[in-house]
Amino acid sequence: MLELKNIIFDVTEDDGSTKRILDGISLTLDENKFYVVTGPNGGGKSTLARIIMGIEKPTSGQILLDGVDITDKSITERAKMGISFALQQPVRFKGIKVHDLIKIAAGKELGTAEACEYLSAVGLCARDYIEREVNSSLSGGELKRIEIATVLARGTKMTVFDEPEAGIDLWSFQNLIHIFETMREEIKGTILIISHQERILNIADEIIMIADGKITKIGHKEDMMIDIIGATLEGGICGRIGAGLDQEFGAEGGDN
Ligand SMILES: Nc1ncnc2c1ncn2[C@@H]1O[C@H](COP(=O)(O)OP(=O)(O)O)[C@@H](O)[C@H]1O
Ligand SMILES: [Mg+2]
Repeated sequence: MLELKNIIFDVTEDDGSTKRILDGISLTLDENKFYVVTGPNGGGKSTLARIIMGIEKPTSGQILLDGVDITDKSITERAKMGISFALQQPVRFKGIKVHDLIKIAAGKELGTAEACEYLSAVGLCARDYIEREVNSSLSGGELKRIEIATVLARGTKMTVFDEPEAGIDLWSFQNLIHIFETMREEIKGTILIISHQERILNIADEIIMIADGKITKIGHKEDMMIDIIGATLEGGICGRIGAGLDQEFGAEGGDN
């Protein structure tokens, strides 16, 4: 269980003024639940993900993992304690094979058959990929799926995905949704996905809406649709349509 207690995150702007990015976020994320964070661009979703990972430290507030205060723990310490993160733009590693990457994630020796299972789980024809190098010969969608395979191999307590749909083509997107649906069925630990995609919102146990650095609502999809549509309009029609097209046509970057 991950608890966020009154998290505040301020940054100092170029002119010396203080900007509040997260404004008192309190949240309890239970084990074996699938959470989706959504809300307008610039609302603070990615910042919250970075705070959970330890990439940013909150200005004030506390983070507890299974009752242990991890507020001052580093990214590495948190990773060892069981928090993992799928980056919006996965990293390519020249000279490292897909098989190696999965072994490193699992933290143990894995035979080809075992490593292949993780690749099959993300819809890759495992034998074609296992000996490939994690380099620029892999497409964005392939890389994203390999990264999710490594997250599965790691089998952590808490997994955070920041807009996994960004930067992949529509075909890969359909596969990705299917992977998340399967993860939902076989859930171990806590999954937190930042997403605007309706099919991902559909499989959430709880949807958390964040706007202007605050949680504006938490609930099930049926209770949230009006708020989601409202926030979409408030976020600016141009911005939202732009983001939608990016996802639809696989432009890199998203709104992160
Ligand atoms: N380190 C930082 N310095 C200055 N501004 C930041 C920093 N981190 C985030 N922000 C700002 O905080 C707001 C929230 O950003 P972000 O968390 O990326 O939103 P979201 O993921 O919901 O679109 C944005 O206006 C962003 O520019
Ligand atoms: Mg973001």
